[in-house]
Amino acid sequence: MNKSAIGVFDSGLGGLTAVKELIKLMPEENVIYFGDTSRVPYGTRDVDTIIHYARQDLNFLSSFDIKSALVACGTISAVALDKVRGDYSFEIIGVIESAAKAALLSTKNKKIGIIGTPATIKSGAYEAALKRLDREVQTLSVACPLFVPLVENGHIEKNDPLIMDAVRLYLKDIMVFGADTVILGCTHYPIIAHTIGEYVGKDVVLINPAKQAVKALKITLTNRELRKTEGKGKYTYYVSDSTTGFETNGGLFLNRSINGEVYKVDIEKY
Ligand code: DGL
Repeated sequence: MNKSAIGVFDSGLGGLTAVKELIKLMPEENVIYFGDTSRVPYGTRDVDTIIHYARQDLNFLSSFDIKSALVACGTISAVALDKVRGDYSFEIIGVIESAAKAALLSTKNKKIGIIGTPATIKSGAYEAALKRLDREVQTLSVACPLFVPLVENGHIEKNDPLIMDAVRLYLKDIMVFGADTVILGCTHYPIIAHTIGEYVGKDVVLINPAKQAVKALKITLTNRELRKTEGKGKYTYYVSDSTTGFETNGGLFLNRSINGEVYKVDIEKY
């Protein structure tokens, strides 16, 4: 049994969508979470900056005893992961590949909508992964720059009026396009999936990339005999800005209090 932790990171709250799945699928595992809340959003920055941040995030996680890292961030997975992966000795899993596979399993009309940060959409990473697996699939991609700041500022209740306006703005063309499946290509978006789901209706399947990535991680850890399968996992959260907002909004999303489990770190040191 391997008791080393699983490292999970994102620019902020979004990676908690992975933590939620880890709690369900691998509750015995210890988890170290990092949310780079002093520098969120990543998705409106240029590629070099995102790569630099990704390295610092992974360097920070490397300071713990971790057996793998889950990049619970669509933006880093799309633009930085291939550039930094080789620098670390542990397994690093991103969110693109497994989400693309799940979307292809779900779609019946082969029309898939993709929403993500400007950097993710510009990279074309989701389209490329989908087309590699199925050349006939049609996609429509839309960048949604307002979602992350709104979520980070606590607009996460169902039918929040600002989120509803942004959902109408961003999802309209995807509905006209006729997608039957939409990839929530930024890990912040499943936090507002209730409001997105209400707009697109029951017949459109929403793919949560972090959920798919956690399933893939479980298979990888099992195959490599790296699972911790006994006892209750310990969760420790680190952020690069004030712990208060993260504790409140993170606790709301996870449906459990994380007060006292969140620590502040100076990410510039890494
Ligand atoms: N949640 C991240 C993503 O999946 C980052 C969003 C951001 O910081 O812009 O893309």
